[in-house]
Amino acid sequence: MSSLIQQPAWKSLEKHYQSVKDLHLRTMFAEDPTRGQRLSVEAQGIYLDYSKNRITGETLRLLADLAESVDLRGRIQSMFRGEKINTTEDRAVLHTALRAPRNTSILVDGKNVVLDVHAVLDRMADFSRRVRSGEWKGYSGKRMRNIINIGIGGSDLGPVMAYEALKHYSDRDLIVRFVSNIDGTDLAEATRDLDPSETLFVVCSKTFTTIETLTNAESARDWCLKALHDKQAIARHFVAVSTNRAEVQKFGIDPANMFGFWDWVGGRYSLDSAVGLSLMIAVGPDHFRDMLAGFHAMDEHFQSAPFPKNLPVLLGLLGVWYVNFFQAETHAILPYDQYLWRLSAYCQQLDMESNGKRVTLDGTFVDYQTGPIIWGQPGTNGQHAYYQLIHQGTRLIPCDFIGFFRSLNPLGHHHDLLMANFFAQTEALAFGKTPEEVAAEGIPPALIPHRTFGGNHPTNTLLAEELTPAMLGKLIALYEHKVFVQGTIWNLNSFDQWGVELGKVLAKRIAPELSVSGEPELDHDSSTNTLIRHFRQKRRSLT
Ligand code: F6P
Repeated sequence: MSSLIQQPAWKSLEKHYQSVKDLHLRTMFAEDPTRGQRLSVEAQGIYLDYSKNRITGETLRLLADLAESVDLRGRIQSMFRGEKINTTEDRAVLHTALRAPRNTSILVDGKNVVLDVHAVLDRMADFSRRVRSGEWKGYSGKRMRNIINIGIGGSDLGPVMAYEALKHYSDRDLIVRFVSNIDGTDLAEATRDLDPSETLFVVCSKTFTTIETLTNAESARDWCLKALHDKQAIARHFVAVSTNRAEVQKFGIDPANMFGFWDWVGGRYSLDSAVGLSLMIAVGPDHFRDMLAGFHAMDEHFQSAPFPKNLPVLLGLLGVWYVNFFQAETHAILPYDQYLWRLSAYCQQLDMESNGKRVTLDGTFVDYQTGPIIWGQPGTNGQHAYYQLIHQGTRLIPCDFIGFFRSLNPLGHHHDLLMANFFAQTEALAFGKTPEEVAAEGIPPALIPHRTFGGNHPTNTLLAEELTPAMLGKLIALYEHKVFVQGTIWNLNSFDQWGVELGKVLAKRIAPELSVSGEPELDHDSSTNTLIRHFRQKRRSLT
């Protein structure tokens, strides 16, 4: 048995769960008219209402005990101090240093990394200004009008999510696109209406060995050379973001056009490093720095706020309550802001690549559930798609609702209607509609079960003034730290991702076996062999 489930706090939570699992939010709210105010906290411009969770004061106290018993405080300090908590890769975990103010000092192996961080940020700012002003010219002397970020995973999801989120602040004369999929369609569609002489590629890859990114970058280079006819053009149309200088050079990008970062930045935690270059070009260095300030403000809150008022700690512990005691399989992130339409996809990698693990830091198998499946879409679209299942399905799906007081695009009464839906959903999810209430509406008896809403579906409501760059930074850091809290409780290394390796290795083996010319021997299982043969045959007959 693992030490986690033997902790007195865990055992107390198990016992406590039995006594609260059937409590209904309707009853809890009826018994305590102040619950809505009491179970809320405001910090860093974010108002969190967590009263619509299936918890009592005792639940919160026991969850806080659990956090203390795994030394969450100590782990937070270890991360911020730059200790090598990514043990399987023997690395520090210091994405928080990426947003540390210039005058601070964080030492890694005796070196103040904050100086390096700001040196890169300054270079990025200078380059962004030159591109935005037209001073940076393409090979044939034209200014850059199109920016294409090539990357995948953390080298794509962060920049694209943040670019979409901050589009309101972006230079609308620039076309900014993101190519990630090795499916040629992605690059073909991104470039089909663009002029290579006005196109800048930002090739983003921490390792610079990722097959998808390198294949896309090679094809992008061919596309450029076909129009510009001179290898010298690459230096004006390609820049790289990477930790791997040698591979960048090997690809043919001038290291002078490379923006570096460090092995202590995980891919999914890298948006605020040079990986955000295409975002910085789009929104400008000042907005980018505002975003970093938002990240930093949340870092400080996470480090210093007492647990009962600590936003990432609260969200993290509530998530553990549902995953481990209610056995919830998934968690939905539902932003009621169109600009945040990629947030759920971003959080999917952040959370699932971090805590999708079944082995603890000590190398033993867990005997409890770990990271949930993260999903979602912006409201109100989801309401007309999958909310049916959340309201009346058989599963418990905790949800985070994220909304703003003010819209960046005030248009008639759109925002009030959006937010009316926002509030209505959490109310309906919590309180539902009883058979008696349905009957009182004159609904025929046969339809009463169909029209009844059980309610008791837990939600967190997060409200902020407006979607600014700083607020985006705060929200992302909030979710980063929530994931850390949960990884700490589950005793995981949230910063490696060995689980993606096997598929990569097998794909490399299979690629030559698909060759059109020969009939290479196959030595897989009978399903994979048959599928490959079928593919070869069909493809040959189609060429
Ligand atoms: O395949 C997983 C992964 O390693 C992610 O963690 C990472 O964000 C992505 O690939 C891209 O890696 P890179 O930035 O090295 O190309």
